[in-house]
Amino acid sequence: MRISFQAISFALVFLVSGMPSAYAGEHVYSANNAKWKTECGACHLAYPPQLLPAASWRVMMTQLDKHFGADASLDAKTAAEIGAFLEANAGHNKREATGKPSQRITETRWFKQEHDEVPAREWSSKAVKQPGNCAACHTQAERGDFSERSLRVPREKESMR
Ligand code: HEC
Ligand code: HEC
Repeated sequence: MRISFQAISFALVFLVSGMPSAYAGEHVYSANNAKWKTECGACHLAYPPQLLPAASWRVMMTQLDKHFGADASLDAKTAAEIGAFLEANAGHNKREATGKPSQRITETRWFKQEHDEVPAREWSSKAVKQPGNCAACHTQAERGDFSERSLRVPREKESMR
């Protein structure tokens, strides 16, 4: 049932947005921009624009000097280019957390639903550390590939406990 629900919601996004160019198969996000990849991939994975709605990216790009406690400021020209790229490829509103535009992918309802079978201890294991560390489990995240095919959740070894 879950799969068919996802298929339906993807079909809806497809129809409503009329902008499916960045969609390259299930949970594989292919949009790319060189400045985004470099600047937004400097401290963590360059999170695909599809994972938050445009409103979230817009707020984030105006507050880069206070970005989750870090200073991620950019010059105005670079910020404008990256902001336009993020908004043009942004996800549907279902990516929103609670009505307000959240800046955390990991707090959105869809993220919690996709990961409801991941036990709490796995989020904070040595290899993962925090939910935003997508690449710890999604081995092809750098390429925008979040499909189940490339998923390997690192298990804590018994001896390490
Ligand atoms: C100077 C380092 C730095 C740069 C550069 C940076 N970030 Fe971040 N980003 C952070 C930190 C620190 C966090 C919070 C990590 C945590 O506590 O989970 C974060 C978190 C995020 C999150 C939330 C992830 C989650 O947990 O759901 C998003 C989305 C994000 N950044 C997008 C961007 C974008 C877009 C850019 C480029 C415009 C960018 N970041 C550039 C440091 C940076
Ligand atoms: C602790 C390991 C772990 C981390 C870290 C993690 N995920 Fe996942 N993710 C999973 C697991 C396990 C599933 C499969 C859930 C299922 O199918 O029941 C999944 C499923 C997904 C799916 C759906 C894939 C599909 O084909 O159904 C997406 C999209 C996704 N994750 C995105 C992300 C993003 C984006 C991040 C980082 C912000 C992230 N995940 C961080 C373990 C993780």
